[in-house]
Amino acid sequence: MNNTSQPLLEEYQIGDLQLKNRVIMASLTRARAANPGLVPTAIMAEYYAQRASAGLILSEGTWVNPQSIGFINVPGIFTQDQVKGWKAVTKAVHDNGGLIFSQLGHIGAGAHPDLQNGELPVGPSAVNIQSQSFTPEGFKNTVTPREMKVADIKETIQDYTKAAQNAKDAGFDGIEIHAIVGMLIPQFLSKTINKRTDEYGGSIENRSRIVFDLLDAIIEVWDSTRVAIKFSPVMLSNVGIVTPDDQTIDLFKYILNKLDHYNLAFVHIVGPSEDLSGTPVEALQEDYFSHFRNNYSGRILANLGFSKESASKIIREGKADLVSFGELFIANPDLVERFQNNWTLSESDRDTYYSGGEDGYITYPKAQYPQS
Ligand SMILES: Cc1cc2nc3c(=O)[nH]c(=O)nc-3n(C[C@H](O)[C@H](O)[C@H](O)COP(=O)(O)O)c2cc1C
Repeated sequence: MNNTSQPLLEEYQIGDLQLKNRVIMASLTRARAANPGLVPTAIMAEYYAQRASAGLILSEGTWVNPQSIGFINVPGIFTQDQVKGWKAVTKAVHDNGGLIFSQLGHIGAGAHPDLQNGELPVGPSAVNIQSQSFTPEGFKNTVTPREMKVADIKETIQDYTKAAQNAKDAGFDGIEIHAIVGMLIPQFLSKTINKRTDEYGGSIENRSRIVFDLLDAIIEVWDSTRVAIKFSPVMLSNVGIVTPDDQTIDLFKYILNKLDHYNLAFVHIVGPSEDLSGTPVEALQEDYFSHFRNNYSGRILANLGFSKESASKIIREGKADLVSFGELFIANPDLVERFQNNWTLSESDRDTYYSGGEDGYITYPKAQYPQS
């Protein structure tokens, strides 16, 4: 087949942004901001520039305030030094013809006192999510967080909004709200974790309120077509007790129906990594992305385990508009060119995902082709 007839590899318009193709680089935490200020480093600029042929890069999850920190050596976007560091990253990507959104994150109850100057992390309720936090001394079990007061929630939303403005000042092309399991937002969405009795807890409407409060504030800073959100409705393993429940399907229906009025850049949805049979979200198993498509008329960015073939198929079938690739971008900085030319893909080395330094980060070469 002629490659130019493949929608995955063709140009695509989001608002006034022209993407070169629909191959999106998903956020990848790589823990290379190993300095006390959590400032993006020069190797980060090089790493992202190497991957600029993606239709759009989504940056690694980036902290919106000191309280949001839950993993060592991950950069923030709440100080002026961090903004300066990100400026070098966005410039490097733009100089190479790419586009990049900043992914804004807060880990909530997934933090640890060792990362919070001994203070308790914050969460929707004083319930331990029974997960693990990556501290300077390695993985440690999470603790019972301090329940956020309404004033804390409002302040956190302000911090996200400030971070969104910082992302603009740093030259990003837009932002994605990091709302996959492990982060603060899904803790609010969770029936198990969120035991609040105020307007941020209880009903589906109340538990999802933080999503819309956040979006309403951020679209004061960015045009909505430059704002995206990433959800993982069906994560089952390694996530502690924030797992799907009997209201998850209705909750996401509610959220997507409401998001329909926002004209966002896209809603990014992570697919199932395991068999959903026998779980409360079993009904989503078959034709997973269609369930979201049927409840949302905006753009959908599909994620998890896609290959060039399965990505082309889902776009051709109209079940998603864009597809993101995570791990494939680690060892294949030129993933788009490899897709275009049907070149073989390289394997990434998991030992270097969070190891710091250049090795396994900026050392993966572009394909040495054409091959005989
Ligand atoms: C090393 C690594 C770090 C990741 N960091 C983030 C992150 O910061 N934010 C996020 O939303 N997802 C993160 N993810 C998840 C990926 O964005 C993506 O959803 C996942 O890898 C599935 O896509 P894939 O099968 O194409 O790799 C990470 C995944 C990996 C492997």
